[in-house]
Amino acid sequence: MSAGVVAPRAGTPPEAAGEPLLDVAGLTAGYGGTPVLHDVALRVPAGDVVAVVGANGAGKTTLLRALSGLVRPRAGTVRLGGADLLAVPVEHRVRAGLAHVPEGHGVIAELTVDENLRLGGLWRGGGRDLRDAVDEVYALFEPLARRVASPGHQLSGGERQMLAVGRALVSRPRLLLLDEPSLGLAPRVVADIMAMLRRLCDDHGLTILLVEQNVRSALSVADVGVVLHLGQVVATRPARSLLHDDALRHAYLGF
Ligand SMILES: Nc1ncnc2c1ncn2[C@@H]1O[C@H](COP(=O)(O)OP(=O)(O)OP(=O)(O)O)[C@@H](O)[C@H]1O
Ligand SMILES: [Mg+2]
Repeated sequence: MSAGVVAPRAGTPPEAAGEPLLDVAGLTAGYGGTPVLHDVALRVPAGDVVAVVGANGAGKTTLLRALSGLVRPRAGTVRLGGADLLAVPVEHRVRAGLAHVPEGHGVIAELTVDENLRLGGLWRGGGRDLRDAVDEVYALFEPLARRVASPGHQLSGGERQMLAVGRALVSRPRLLLLDEPSLGLAPRVVADIMAMLRRLCDDHGLTILLVEQNVRSALSVADVGVVLHLGQVVATRPARSLLHDDALRHAYLGF
C-alpha cells in the first residue's frame, strides 16, 4: 500500500487475519414504523469493491445511511475493523474511518474546489495534516488541481463527482461508502469514475462499498455484487458471475 491520502491513520489497528473490514449482520432498519431493510448481511474485505445493486426503492440508500448513522438500525450488528460501529456516536464515525459520499454528491456549489476539499477535514481538525491531505487529493486527481479556485457550480458532472470523492478522502477513510456515483453522468464519464474507484482500492489500499442502479458499470469494477430486493439480500456473488446470471438479472435488476 502506498502512503497517501487514503493510508490509514497512525494508531489504526490492523484487521485480524481473515476478518472483513466491514461485517454487517442481521441489520434491520427503516423510517418511523416502516421497516425498509430486513435482516441484511454483507461483508466487505479490506481492499475490495463490493457493489450493492437493486431497483428503485430496494433500500440501497437506506443501507448506507444506517451505516453512517443517519438512520438508526432496529436490530443487527455492524463491525468496522472488528470494532462495534453502532456503538460509535454519529459524529465520531468519520474518525472511526468511515466516509459517506451521498446521492447527489453533496458538493457545495458556491464554494471553490479547495474550500470543498478543506471541508472534508471538518471532523478531524485543521492544521498541517489537513493541507497535506488536500494536496494528496490534488496529486491523485489532476483535473481538480487545475480547478483549485473554481466554484463548484463551474465544474462538469464528472469533476463534481471527483470532488465529492476527493473531499471524502481528505478524512483519510478506511472504508468509503458511495451512493450512486454514476447518477446523471455520460457513459464515458461513468467508466472513468469506476476506473478511478478501482485504482483507489488497488493502488492506495482503500475499501469501497458502492451502491448503484447502474448495475453493469458497478459490477464491472466490483469484486463482489450483493443484490438487494425489497430490503433483503437475495444474492451475494462474485461480481462477474452476477452479470452473467440471466435469470437473476431479469428477476431483480430489470435487464
Ligand atoms: N426519509 C424517508 N422516510 C420514509 N421512507 C423513506 C425515506 N427514504 C426512503 N424511504 C423509503 O424507503 C424505501 C427504500 O428507499 P431507498 O432510498 O433506500 O431506496 P434505494 O434503493 O436507494 O432507491 P433508489 O435506487 O431510487 O435510490 C423506499 O420505499 C422509500 O420510499
Ligand atoms: Mg438511493
